[in-house]
Amino acid sequence: MVAEAWAKRGGPVKWPELADGDLAIRPARPEDAADWHAIRSHAGPWQSPLQSVAAARELLQAMAAEPPFSPGWRQFLLLEGQTVVGDIGLHWPAHGDYAEIGFELAPAARGRGLAQRAVRLLGCWLLESAGLLGVVAITHHDNGAARAVLVEAGLLPCSDAALHVRFDVQPHERLHLMARSADA
Ligand SMILES: CC(C)(COP(=O)(O)OP(=O)(O)OC[C@H]1O[C@@H](n2cnc3c(N)ncnc32)[C@H](O)[C@@H]1OP(=O)(O)O)[C@@H](O)C(=O)NCCC(=O)NCCS
Repeated sequence: MVAEAWAKRGGPVKWPELADGDLAIRPARPEDAADWHAIRSHAGPWQSPLQSVAAARELLQAMAAEPPFSPGWRQFLLLEGQTVVGDIGLHWPAHGDYAEIGFELAPAARGRGLAQRAVRLLGCWLLESAGLLGVVAITHHDNGAARAVLVEAGLLPCSDAALHVRFDVQPHERLHLMARSADA
């Protein structure tokens, strides 16, 4: 569903720029390639690294060429003031129901609750403003910090079999879900 169709449903027409105090989330642009590449190079075994700054730029150019709210992965950056401190990837769903997110912080930005705040900020926007039914994140069972971040942000462990099949959750992975409340 592209932006025009989304607007007819009363939803937003462009990707959001969000803020919580001095923490901001905005769409990544091709000129952010070096920052994005640097953040990803510290994600350890939990995220696939970007091969080079040029590869990162190509991916961001391809994402920027897509209309907002067309299905697929989009990249957002987390900023503290003017400093890029992390990223959040968002997979917009073909059917406008469940989005998937993934995230990381630069090592220097860890241990201060920034990921939890960012995940909550984007998750709430997706449910309350974009009208999705839910936001999921899939983590490795051994990634205790990520699982703690998700629970603190309001994405709880979820055993829904249909969601496990849809998101191809593997035995060593865990699916977390933030669902829209029934009265929303
Ligand atoms: C996941 C990540 C963003 C967390 O960063 P952070 O929010 O600064 O995390 P913290 O170090 O503050 O840890 C968050 C919480 O988990 C706890 N924690 C840390 N390691 C843990 C572990 N191995 N097991 C259980 N809990 C753990 C911390 O104590 C903290 O709890 P608290 O808020 O009650 O103090 C960061 O580690 C990162 O970028 N990792 C690499 C990429 C990644 O794993 N991304 C997730 C893929 S879905």
